[in-house]
Amino acid sequence: MSLKDFVLQNLEENRPSYVSGQQMAEMFQVSRAAVWKAIEALRRDGYEIDSAPKKGYALLPSSDILSKGAIYHFLKSEYRSFSLHVYESIDSTNQAAKKMAVDGAAEGTVIVANTQTAGRGRMGRSFYSPAHSGIYMSMILRPQTDISDTVLLTTAAGVAVCRAIESTCKKPCFIKWLNDIYLDEKKICGILTEAMTNCETGLVDSVIVGIGVNFKTPTHAFPTELQSRAGSIFSDEIPSVTRSHLIAEIVNEFMDLYADFTQKEFLKEYRSRSFVLDKQISYFAQSQWHEALALDVADNGGLIVRDKEGKIHTLHSGEITLRNID
Ligand code: BTN
Repeated sequence: MSLKDFVLQNLEENRPSYVSGQQMAEMFQVSRAAVWKAIEALRRDGYEIDSAPKKGYALLPSSDILSKGAIYHFLKSEYRSFSLHVYESIDSTNQAAKKMAVDGAAEGTVIVANTQTAGRGRMGRSFYSPAHSGIYMSMILRPQTDISDTVLLTTAAGVAVCRAIESTCKKPCFIKWLNDIYLDEKKICGILTEAMTNCETGLVDSVIVGIGVNFKTPTHAFPTELQSRAGSIFSDEIPSVTRSHLIAEIVNEFMDLYADFTQKEFLKEYRSRSFVLDKQISYFAQSQWHEALALDVADNGGLIVRDKEGKIHTLHSGEITLRNID
């Protein structure tokens, strides 16, 4: 570990308290001047570090630079062995994760970026990914399951993101089938799950769970066409947590659920967080829109609906719209 990483880890672990420069110098067996140089280098990277005579250095609560050290700090000990890749800018974390998975990356590999230049959403859409204000992350999984079970991973990710936001940011979250997270009737998170199968065996080789969260993007900063539907966790207030903390908590919550996701325990919570049940919705199938009543979420993650003729259907993919929010 470099001195700079060591200093950052110490400041992160003690944030917002002060850490003595002398103490850090002794622990790393370098001079106080070397510690001061590391602090200056961190400041040049954008870290907001206060210094006070006789107290030392403190990382300010507002300092929100994504870093491995900060994310690891909030990971549960059992997940600290995961390989973590943090990029300043990347085309798409899902795209990078797919390449890494093909090259043999282990389960639990996490890829995070401060900004994406070609962030991807479902249905071939793009995902708006501005720097410093969002979370763009992908996790590589190697589930020993049938391809049909992978939709449950999206469902589990939805529940995990809601739990993580509620525990760290103290905001109540709801789910719009299949995988959009809403806060105050605005979409604040989307999830893109992509599976790669082995053509010879027909088994799942890897699954990429990509999560995009609008963390502190102000409403006016979204492209005009998104402004009525997109929101952020902290759109008009100073965040009470850092993005690194929330990223780690999403990994913690998701991996806990993933451990036995085929047991489908989380479906009960998914249903209770769903705000589409008992509502009139529209869905697109066979080249046209249909109106229906959303009845329930099936055990395989599908949405059970009753159409105007009273027929029951289970939707497995695609998108639904609700009149009041879409
Ligand atoms: C959607 O709402 O349509 C899904 C959006 C998923 C966006 C995330 S951001 C991190 C990961 N990388 C991508 O390119 N997409 C996903």
